[in-house]
Amino acid sequence: MRNLKAERILDIAKRRGFFWQSSLIHGAISGFYDYGHVGSMLKRKFENIWRDYFLGLDENFYEIQTSVVMPEEVFKASGHLENFVDPICKCSKCGNVMRADHILEKELKESFEGVSPEDLLKIIKKHDIRCEKCKGPLKETGVFNMLFPLKLGVGKGARTGYLTGETAQGAYVNFKLEFDSLRRRLPMGLAIIGKAFRNEISPRNVLIRMREFTQAELQIFFNPDMINEHPKFSEVKKYGLLLFPVKNRKGERIEKITCEDAVKKLKLPKFFVYHMARIQQFYLGVLGISKKSFRFRELSDEEKAFYNKYHWDIELHMETLGGFKEVAGIHYRTDHDLSGHQSVSGESMTVDINGKKVLPHVLELSFGVDRNVYALIELAYTEEKNRIVLKFPRAVSPYDAAVFPLVSKDGLDELANSVKDALRKDGFRVFYDDSGSIGRRYRRMDEIGVAACITIDYDSKKKKDVTLRDRDSMKQVRIRIKDLPAGLKRFLEGEELEKIGKLLKS
Ligand code: GAP
Repeated sequence: MRNLKAERILDIAKRRGFFWQSSLIHGAISGFYDYGHVGSMLKRKFENIWRDYFLGLDENFYEIQTSVVMPEEVFKASGHLENFVDPICKCSKCGNVMRADHILEKELKESFEGVSPEDLLKIIKKHDIRCEKCKGPLKETGVFNMLFPLKLGVGKGARTGYLTGETAQGAYVNFKLEFDSLRRRLPMGLAIIGKAFRNEISPRNVLIRMREFTQAELQIFFNPDMINEHPKFSEVKKYGLLLFPVKNRKGERIEKITCEDAVKKLKLPKFFVYHMARIQQFYLGVLGISKKSFRFRELSDEEKAFYNKYHWDIELHMETLGGFKEVAGIHYRTDHDLSGHQSVSGESMTVDINGKKVLPHVLELSFGVDRNVYALIELAYTEEKNRIVLKFPRAVSPYDAAVFPLVSKDGLDELANSVKDALRKDGFRVFYDDSGSIGRRYRRMDEIGVAACITIDYDSKKKKDVTLRDRDSMKQVRIRIKDLPAGLKRFLEGEELEKIGKLLKS
């Protein structure tokens, strides 16, 4: 069945400068994407909002930047060499290799995540599932490691390395150095916004399953004795989490449960639940995602990543992908990583907390930036009678405003340029457009989701004011040029248009 909405989003993505497959002119390889001028702005906006919000949760949280190439020992220590594998099956006729769980998911419409290759083969045989290319019988199953190996250097001194499969390992290998150079205090958070690489067998759904993608991850190192506490828990205890626990799987029922009840009834540690609340507040309050499009999905023991004790995914409802899809996760990784690095490197990862030796545990807040960018576009996508418009929350829009001179003559273009320059100087991200009719310029800006359009007309020269148009309602106000920076700021922060200037009759 054709997915028209998905096709239209991809069309806008390519036509308007959001994203497209990488190296298109040479024949693209699946799973690699480039961002154009608008997509880069949107991605950067998400990263900046994420950075400000999550680093703001605690004054002992910091951002670091680490290498994407790491030696083999790192992945031996983390368990990725052994466990970072996907189940595969092979066609005995044409030799095509597929993700065994994905082909079953496609045919039988249920999840097979975490099922062993042996059991997958039994299910494949029972339902006579065939090769998606040639319809030949599928015989073998096995596993495939997703890390990309690298040969580093030449000759005797050459070493084996890998492109990292998650940014997280950069934080673990640097934990001790950062702990010593900071306040020697737990909890300590190390955030990384960076690239991750996975040799996915079947990359698909554009930015959802890629081979090279960006993650924004925060590793919170804490004293395991304190897992049932958080100094700010009282701030969130009555806050309702939108949860989809394993026990609700059959009915797809999302439960609203307060943080204090999540601790009491679901037996989740306070430290974990506090951060769930902050994540939900990020999505609903900061990114403006509606409640009905958000949920935490608990993973069963078979589905959990190999390093996690508690593992809940954050899922957003995306029509083009047929329902809720994972965009982030909250993971209690215990001391899995630090003890692994300690034993492989021989370097102690314990720290001294009030005279006691402690091997910190890790709570990980892990976000796929590209998946979130796609979700923001899909949730903003709106078709109206005469236009397609991306109704991003104002604070998330790739550009804050566009400035247009009504015509490029009689000094209107000079005035428009000076308005644009002044706004840019004040830190606003402004697009300047002087080509085509005003109507066409509005449509272009609507398709990339620019929050406000500012038009300079003949009256602007006389009265020193401009028109500011709200993307969503298409209503317009007249505002004085000298009040524009403050007015635009208030508008982007959510102020009603009518309070910013004099409403024009439509
Ligand atoms: N450090 C933990 C970790 O990497 P994960 O669930 O494998 O956990 C975290 O990945 C997030 O990264 C996911 O929630 C998803 O948003 C994103 N992600 C994972 N694999 C991806 C892929 N192949 N393409 C795009 N994003 C991906």
